[in-house]
Amino acid sequence: MPSLPALLALLFVCWAPLRAAASSWWSLAMSPVQRPEMFIIGAQPVCSQLPGLSAGQRKLCQLYQEHMAYIGEGARTGIRECQHQFRQRRWNCSTVDDASVFGRVLQIGSRETAFTYAVSAAGVVNAISRACREGELSTCGCSRAARPKDLPRDWLWGGCGDNVDYGYRFAKEFVDAREREKNFAKGSEEQGRVLMNLQNNEAGRRAVYKTADVACKCHGVSGSCSLKTCWLQLAEFRKVGDQLKEKYDSAAAMRITRRGKLELVNSRFKPPTPEDLVYVDPSPDYCLRDESTGSLGTRGRLCNKTSEGLDGCALMCCGRGYDQFKSVRTERCHCKFHWCCFVRCKKCTQVVDQFVCK
Ligand SMILES: *[C@@H]1O[C@H](CO)[C@@H](O)[C@H](O)[C@H]1NC(C)=O
Ligand SMILES: *[C@@H]1O[C@H](CO)[C@@H](O)[C@H](O)[C@H]1NC(C)=O
Repeated sequence: MPSLPALLALLFVCWAPLRAAASSWWSLAMSPVQRPEMFIIGAQPVCSQLPGLSAGQRKLCQLYQEHMAYIGEGARTGIRECQHQFRQRRWNCSTVDDASVFGRVLQIGSRETAFTYAVSAAGVVNAISRACREGELSTCGCSRAARPKDLPRDWLWGGCGDNVDYGYRFAKEFVDAREREKNFAKGSEEQGRVLMNLQNNEAGRRAVYKTADVACKCHGVSGSCSLKTCWLQLAEFRKVGDQLKEKYDSAAAMRITRRGKLELVNSRFKPPTPEDLVYVDPSPDYCLRDESTGSLGTRGRLCNKTSEGLDGCALMCCGRGYDQFKSVRTERCHCKFHWCCFVRCKKCTQVVDQFVCK
């Protein structure tokens, strides 16, 4: 007869892979608690009702309740961008229907996980910086960034810019709080994950900072542009996503040392800067559905028969082959401009071949 502790241990081992995925502040992107008015009445309870917040994040929620809607918006922007960047890949950044948002896949410290942390931290910087400029938050206003040295002398530095300094600082407090609360043994795998998450959060925030640029408007007699007013403006979030995608492609493989620092697995590579993404685990291949890793698999995914890239049927379907079907596509066509002023189009339908993975 096996002893009771052994039985319990066995039970635990069997259950462990199916334990629930940790919930996350990303769930603010999903929950409908987005209305600032809701925070005003009966303030306190709202923060304790929001799913996915850590203890420190809950405290920040109580102090900065009006920020929460923008954190949710930022997370949503980040998730949407992630899904755009990965739309033609086996792992397509799809979300699941619980407070973990991405399911168990992010328990693996992979490149994909790195990107997800970075892009959502970037989303928060983006949303808060803009909310400051729009006067939506009582603790910040227009950017107070110093006039760039290379701005031509006769251009005015003024206007109301996106407050990326504030956005950066607040996002750092809020997003990193959950990692900073954890207290794992130095040199443990778990501590490695904390360091990885912190590095990737920072890389995401910096991507917003670095892509923000000077924008100007002309004044002067009938658009002569003799006078310009300039301010600091966030880049389109797509640009942030593109930049982080490049960082994803060049992400550095790391491991935790016994002294509790991340170091390169391959010491011949250049060490990552704070703008780079890092990961500690190899990626799964995401080919098959796997409950224990949270991989959804690529069965049923559309693929491109002629592409040799990641969106091609060969790679997307992992060699399992594909099914072909016809689908009808309707488009606007033969558009004519009518005087004045509208455009009238015809509807054209076209039968196209589509391919889905087996
Ligand atoms: C992403 O992948 C999942 C699982 O393979 C699939 O159900 C979903 O439709 C995909 N989403 C998009 C936008 O292709
Ligand atoms: C499929 O891939 C080919 C080659 O990369 C590309 O030219 C074509 O536009 C793609 N088709 C679709 C429907 O994306």
